[in-house]
Amino acid sequence: MEVVKTIVELKSIVKNVKSEGKTIGLVPTMGYLHEGHMALAKAAREENDFVIMSIFVNPTQFGPNEDYESYPRDLERDKKIAESVGVDVVFAPSAEEMYPTDGGIRIHAGRQATILCGASRPGHFDGVLQVVTKLFHLAEPTRAYFGQKDAQQVAIVTTLVRDYNFPLEIRTVPIVREEDGLAKSSRNVYLSETERKEAPAIYKGLKLAKEEYLSSNDAEKAVRAAKDYILENTSGRIDYVELLSYPDLAPVDDSTEQLLLAAAVYIGKTRLIDNIIFSKK
Ligand code: PAJ
Repeated sequence: MEVVKTIVELKSIVKNVKSEGKTIGLVPTMGYLHEGHMALAKAAREENDFVIMSIFVNPTQFGPNEDYESYPRDLERDKKIAESVGVDVVFAPSAEEMYPTDGGIRIHAGRQATILCGASRPGHFDGVLQVVTKLFHLAEPTRAYFGQKDAQQVAIVTTLVRDYNFPLEIRTVPIVREEDGLAKSSRNVYLSETERKEAPAIYKGLKLAKEEYLSSNDAEKAVRAAKDYILENTSGRIDYVELLSYPDLAPVDDSTEQLLLAAAVYIGKTRLIDNIIFSKK
């Protein structure tokens, strides 16, 4: 496995791979890899001739009071993990390499970014679209892999690809969880022992809400069930719990086929997100 830090090196590798007519799978990450990222890489390995993983803590998707500086980083550890799941090239640029100039041109995410995480993290999805656009141009993937863990991110990136005709397919991988149900996340390392014990209540609350919705068909009641459970079983502060149609992220009505139950909860200072995607029986 090769690790490259510059755009010139990556482009030269991509040019060679493409000239051989090979397919490329791209796995964009911010590193501090765990089984969630590994599941993405494994799917990419199975479906493509060549796998590129990017490891880049993208400054433009963090708000001024967010955890950009403290976000966990360990490239040496990440390299070993990436190699173990068959990644061919890790692209780990510096912020200067990715953003050497600032001409002030921004990609602005649309309606799907005004709610859920977009509402509490203004500009976050603009930054995601900015880095993802660059990565798509640089890696020229046949397929790009995203986790359902960030369901809103998948929905918005899919819209970008569709509306701006990127010649690639977005592939979604199910959420990988700890044994007690907590969704794997690089941010779980921030949790204290007590907080870690409380955190699985988020997923449990979402599962309760799903059952409530399937039996009552009442979105408000379902959301209330999740909120009550989370508040009773954690010391956390709820940012949101919402039930929306997926992937368009609109209010649920009788014609809705796929639903997204999503939550963001501050457990201590750590903001955790989780979701369930399901259809009506
Ligand atoms: P990051 O949080 O590192 O996540 C990278 C990818 O791994 C995302 O597609 C995310 O949904 C997926 N992922 C994380 N935890 C997962 C889990 N438990 N199960 C399944 N997939 C999981 O998301 C980002 O980075 C960034 O926004 C990025 C797309 C790289 C742009 O900077």
